[in-house]
Amino acid sequence: MSIGTNHEELVELLAFYGELGVDCTLAEEAVDWLHHGHAAPGEPIRQALKPAPNSRDGTSAVRSGAAPAGAQQQHSEGAKSAGALRSEHRAPAAGSAGGGPLEPGVAAARTLAARAKSLEDLRLALDSYEGCALRATAKNTCFYRGATRARLMIIGEAPGRDEDLEGRPFVGRAGQLLDRMLAAIGLNEELVHITNVVYWRPPGNRTPTLQETQSCRPFLERQIQFVEPELVLLLGGAAAKNVLDVSDGIMRLRGKWKDVNMGGRSLRALPTLHPAYLLRTPAAKRLAWRDLLSLRRTLEGSS
Ligand code: URA
Repeated sequence: MSIGTNHEELVELLAFYGELGVDCTLAEEAVDWLHHGHAAPGEPIRQALKPAPNSRDGTSAVRSGAAPAGAQQQHSEGAKSAGALRSEHRAPAAGSAGGGPLEPGVAAARTLAARAKSLEDLRLALDSYEGCALRATAKNTCFYRGATRARLMIIGEAPGRDEDLEGRPFVGRAGQLLDRMLAAIGLNEELVHITNVVYWRPPGNRTPTLQETQSCRPFLERQIQFVEPELVLLLGGAAAKNVLDVSDGIMRLRGKWKDVNMGGRSLRALPTLHPAYLLRTPAAKRLAWRDLLSLRRTLEGSS
């Protein structure tokens, strides 16, 4: 497309960017990531698709190796073979990172998360973590909002635009609806801990990929160890599938309590509809209301 400088052409260009999912600027100057070598977003994946030079079966030392921390680790993990990477892509969900080969960045995430002795340590660990590709385009890390210890933890999908700007989960329109939903059953931010399955905004608000959720998972598990929830409310299909390690859609999952083990804790998890979906589909609010009543009954019953 040849671009001039008149108004209509610029509007057309912006519309084109919008269709690609580019809906905000990150900096004054465009970055030519192709000239950044290893620093480019996606570089570890690109490297991973190259066959390892000295490995006959295509596996690399990383699969069995120890877990050094930091960005260098990410690059060495990025040297995994195409075979190793493809088999990881077939993993059913983020929860399966436990026994099998590791996604790029997961080993470093585990090391960093395990070292954290408190939620604040964990925040610093997240700030230093380079293993999730979403960091490259996000403005801020969105860790949590609400209580540091709570019986109820609420887990959503991913920060959106408002959250990215503010550095806190669920502060935009969906978050405001979430607060009203909580208020309707007598809860507020001081009584719950609110977070997401990934800590950085996916560009264009797309659903986070398996690699992105897996690279955040060790932090989420450590977070659970500090917050010590008994119950987890899972907002939307992406959070529910990721935490429960299932492929069913949210309409099938919602309203049904499931037992789940995360961060070494046995939790009861309730999937429900995402507030952003409820904003678009007000008729579905009656289903969410049923789920909220179930949550309130369980909270009252187990107090
Ligand atoms: N949607 C989410 O899933 N999480 C947020 O933090 C905001 C919107």
